[in-house]
Order: sequence, then structure tokens, then C-alpha cells
Amino acid sequence: MRTIKSINSLKRELKIIKSKNQTIGFVPTMGAFHKGHLSLMRNARRDNDIVIVSIFVNPTQFGPKEDFEKYPRQIKIDELFAKKEKVDIIFYPSAKEIYKDCHLTYVNVTNISKVLCGRSRPNHFEGVTTIVSKLINITEPDVMYLGQKDAQQAVIIKTMVKDLNFNVAIKICPIVREKDGLAMSSRNSYLSQKHRQEAPCLYKSLKEAKKMILAGNTNSKSILSWVASNIKNNSSGIIDYTECINADTLMPISRIKGRAMIALAVKFRKTRLIDNILFHLK
Ligand code: PAF
Repeated sequence: MRTIKSINSLKRELKIIKSKNQTIGFVPTMGAFHKGHLSLMRNARRDNDIVIVSIFVNPTQFGPKEDFEKYPRQIKIDELFAKKEKVDIIFYPSAKEIYKDCHLTYVNVTNISKVLCGRSRPNHFEGVTTIVSKLINITEPDVMYLGQKDAQQAVIIKTMVKDLNFNVAIKICPIVREKDGLAMSSRNSYLSQKHRQEAPCLYKSLKEAKKMILAGNTNSKSILSWVASNIKNNSSGIIDYTECINADTLMPISRIKGRAMIALAVKFRKTRLIDNILFHLK
């Protein structure tokens, strides 16, 4: 496994890979690997000749009061994890390498970047789609692997890839959870012991809601009101949103049908956790 920091060196490597007609699986990350990241790498390893993982804490997707400075950085540990997953190349650029002086171009997927998490994180998805566009152009992958935990991010990136004719397939991999159900996230390490104990109630609420839906209650308002009160009764988390949405368009639905999702964001002090559950109702 090699860690490459410059775009030019990576491009030289890609020339050799492409000349051998080898397929490239790409996993974009901000590092601080957990089992969710490792499962993306495993999927990429299974499907492709070459696996590239990027580690870049992207400044443009953090708001001014968010955790950019505090975000965990642990390249040496991440390298060990990636090596174990048989990753071929880690792309680990500096901010200067990615955003040269006078960077003026941003990629914006309209409408769906403004709902759900976009309401409380106004420029977040523009930062995400900008860096992901750049990383696709830099790493030239055949397939890119993303996690279902960031469901809105996944739909936005899929939309961007379709709308801008990027030549890459996208695979969305299932959420990986802790034993108690909490969705794995690099930000879980911010939680106090008390909040860490309370946080699994998010997934418990989603699972119960899914049961209620499958048992015949397809009224979004009643389901969401149950989810909200269950979270309030079992934790000190402050709800940012709970929504029933169409899983492909992210648009709210009043009657649950088709490929649907309940998505939520809850704040435990400064730590904002997101989670979701998918279901398909005929
Ligand atoms: O999901 C993430 O870790 C980031 O948003 C991504 C896709 C690597 C872009 O910085």
C-alpha cells in the first residue's frame, strides 16, 4: 500500500493502472476510520482490481461554527486499518494541494441540498459535491463507494453524477452499527458517557417506527410524532428533524408508500447525530 500526497504522483500511478485496464474502486473519506469505512473498503476490494481511499478533512463542507479543527485526524492508525483491508493507494492531500490559491468553482445540486441536514448546515452539501467532483476527476474511478448512513449525501452525489454525466458507478453500502444499534460515525467519539448511553434510542425509535409502518400505520404525521416523543422520553437529545421522505427524491411524504425512509438528526450538546431507516411498501 502506498500513501500518495500529490495529484501529479497519483496521476502517474493512474496512467499505469489504466494502461493495464485495471478497474478502480474508490472510497472517499475524511479519515478516523471505523467499521463503516472498513466495510466500504471491503466492498471496493471485492469488486475491483485496485482500491483507492482518499483521506481529506474537507474545509469547505464545515460551517464556521462546526468541528473542522476538532475533527479527529489519525493518519498513522488509518494507514494500518487500510493496509489490513488490502487497500492499494491512500490519497492523502493537503488542503493546499486540493484548493489552490484562487479556487473559485463550486458544484451545487439545487433543491435537495437545502432540505433535511441542508437546513441547519447551509453550505455543507455544496462543499461535499465540490470535493467529491474533484476527487472523482483526480482518482478516475470505475465505482465509488458511499455509506447509507449519510443518506442525503448519497442521493445528492448520485444526482450530481447523473446530471453532470460523470463516468462513475455508485454503490451505496448498508449502515454499520455498534452492538447497541448506534450508527458508526467518527463523531460518536465526541459524545459524553451519558449521551453515548442515550444515543442508541435513535435507532430503537426508527426500528419501532418501521414495525408500526409494516403493521399498517402509514400516516407520516402520526409515525413522526411517535418517533419524536420516544426520543424526547428516552434521551436529552434535541431533535433537529425527523422526516418521512421518498428514499430517491428526499421529498417529504404524508402517506408512506414505495421506497421510503425515515431520516432524523438529533443534537447531543454540540454533537449532531444522523440516522435513517429504509423500507419498501408496495
Ligand atoms: O462522508 C464523508 O466522509 C465526506 O462527506 C466525503 C464524502 C468524504 C466528502 O468529504
